[in-house]
Amino acid sequence: MKIYSKEELNNYELSLTYDDISLLPTEISQIKSRTDITIKSRFLGIDISIPVISSPMDTVTGITMAAELSALGAIGIVNRFDSSLKEIFSNNNTNGIKAVSIGLNAEEKLIEKLAEKNFLICIDTANANNSSVLKKCEELKTKYGVKVIVGNIASGSTLCSLADAGADAVRIGIGGGSVCTTSIQTGIGIGQVSSILDVYFTRREKKLNIALIADGGIKSAGDVVKAIALGSDMVMLGRMLAGTKETPGEVIKYNDQLWKKYRGSASFGVKMKSEFIEGEETMVPYKGPVKNVVNSISDGLKSAMSYMNCSSLEELREKAKFVVLSNSSYIERLPKK
Ligand code: IMP
Repeated sequence: MKIYSKEELNNYELSLTYDDISLLPTEISQIKSRTDITIKSRFLGIDISIPVISSPMDTVTGITMAAELSALGAIGIVNRFDSSLKEIFSNNNTNGIKAVSIGLNAEEKLIEKLAEKNFLICIDTANANNSSVLKKCEELKTKYGVKVIVGNIASGSTLCSLADAGADAVRIGIGGGSVCTTSIQTGIGIGQVSSILDVYFTRREKKLNIALIADGGIKSAGDVVKAIALGSDMVMLGRMLAGTKETPGEVIKYNDQLWKKYRGSASFGVKMKSEFIEGEETMVPYKGPVKNVVNSISDGLKSAMSYMNCSSLEELREKAKFVVLSNSSYIERLPKK
C-alpha cells in the first residue's frame, strides 16, 4: 500500500473525494489529553475557536445561526436572501455577527452599511471565475477596504486573478454540495480532495495570500478533519448544520419524526422561477441546537489530532499522510447495523 504525502496525492491520476481517502497515523503520539491540543486559529483577522463557517444559504444561515456560531467561536455568513439583515441595521447590536453575503447586484447603500459595521463580505456566486465577480471584488476592496470572500472555484488555475482582485478568501468546490445538481446539469466539477489540493499547491507555488475554504460535500467530522489536513484554512458547511434549531424555517412533524427544510441556493424554492435550476430541495431530520454539531466536530478534530500526534491545525496540515481506499476498504470502515 502506498502512503501519500499531500504532494503525491495531488499527483494521483484520478480526481478524488473525501470517501476515497483516509488519514494514516504514522508516529507514536505524545499527546496525553485533548487539552494538549488547540484547534484555534485566525481567519481574515478574526480569532476563531473552530475552523467552521456556515454556508450563506437561506435554510442554513440567518442572524440567529450567525450569532450562535459566533458565540461558539465559529463564523456564520448571513444569506443574501435574508430580510433579517434589516434587523442587524435597525439595532446597533450586531450580536457578534461577522459575515454577510451579497449578490452581484447588491445595492450600494447596503454595501456601505455593511462596510461601516466592518462585516466580512462574501460575494455569493456559483462561479468566481467571472469578470463581473472580479470587478465587484476589486470595487469592494478599493472603495471600502473590507475583507472579501469569493467563490466558487474547482481548481487553482485562476487563483492569481482572484488574489490580484484582492480576494481575501476563496470557496473551493464546484458540484460537490449535497443539494447541488451542477455536475449533472453541466458535466462540470471534480472531487473535493483534488480541488482542495490543486488550489492549495497553486497558492504555495505562486506565494499568494488568500485563505482557502473547503465548501461542499462535507458529511461528517471525519470529512472536516480530512479537509483541514488537505490544506484548507476553514470548512464551509451546509447540510451538516441544516436541520438545527438555529437555522431559519419551521420544524415540521411528518411520519412521527421532526424535520426542517434544506435547499440549494439555485433551487426552484429560492429562485421561484422556472428558469435553469442547479439545486435540489429536501427535508433533513431536526437535530436540535447547533452547539451539539459544533461540539461533535471539535471532538472529532481533537481526537484525530491526538491519533496523528498533532497539537495544532498547522501541525495537522504539515504532518498529514493519506492512503487511497479501495471501495471494499471504504465499506469496511462504515458501522454496520
Ligand atoms: P453541503 O455542505 O454538501 O450541503 O454543501 C453546501 C454548499 O453547496 C454551499 O456552501 C454551496 O457552495 C453549494 N450550493 C448551495 N446551493 C447550491 C445550489 O443550488 N446548487 C449548487 N451548489 C449549491
